[in-house]
Amino acid sequence: MAILFSPREFADLKKDLVLFKCALKNMETRMDTLVQEFAHLHESNPIEHVKARVKTPESIAQKLYRRGFALTAENARTQLTDIAGIRCICSYARDIGTIADVFVRQPDIKILKMRDYLTKPKVSGYRSFHLIVEVPIYLTDSTVHLPVEVQIRTQAMDFWASLEHKVRYKYNDDMPESIIRSLWECAEKIAELDRQMFQIQDIANLTRQRK
Ligand code: GTP
Ligand code: MG
Repeated sequence: MAILFSPREFADLKKDLVLFKCALKNMETRMDTLVQEFAHLHESNPIEHVKARVKTPESIAQKLYRRGFALTAENARTQLTDIAGIRCICSYARDIGTIADVFVRQPDIKILKMRDYLTKPKVSGYRSFHLIVEVPIYLTDSTVHLPVEVQIRTQAMDFWASLEHKVRYKYNDDMPESIIRSLWECAEKIAELDRQMFQIQDIANLTRQRK
């Protein structure tokens, strides 16, 4: 069944999405500033890559519907905090906290929510660090503050999350126990892999400094 906004709500939503796009650009610029700083002013850059997206009207409609809200632009604006989303993929688990801290300390950003699925993984095995930040958008005669969901994780965690997402989608959210268990085991192995990889680079760094 197609879940659609009425033409009038859709027109309003489209206007809001322009502002969400600006909010996302704002966060992308902040991320890029870090990449430039790490790459050119420090020795190494912990950010592998950054992905950003604004949710499509179809996906917004589905989420509102799933949560039992009427399909209005106002509900999209007030009930969802992941219309604008940015994902930062790091090399090592330790970099995640460093990057999150940068945004927590930026004075013009308000932290609306912080979720640490690294120390407390989800039951699925999902690991990541999430921030919902509110960024200011300066218009001609007003300032609007909009939320952006920031997900920070390692390449290994990202590999797991994208596979799990695809599998979950294939099974329509009704995965067999055996697959749930396999995915959870993979997530544990990946966490161990992240630890080992970090130890190796830590040792390599120490050795290099001593030389
Ligand atoms: P959503 O309604 O899914 O956005 O969840 P939420 O508002 O309760 O927030 P939560 O922090 O649980 O999840 C936010 C986002 O993190 C999701 O939209 C996914 O992108 C990602 N995520 C959370 N849990 C999982 C998981 O178990 N597997 C995968 N692949 N992604 C997850
Ligand atoms: Mg989401």
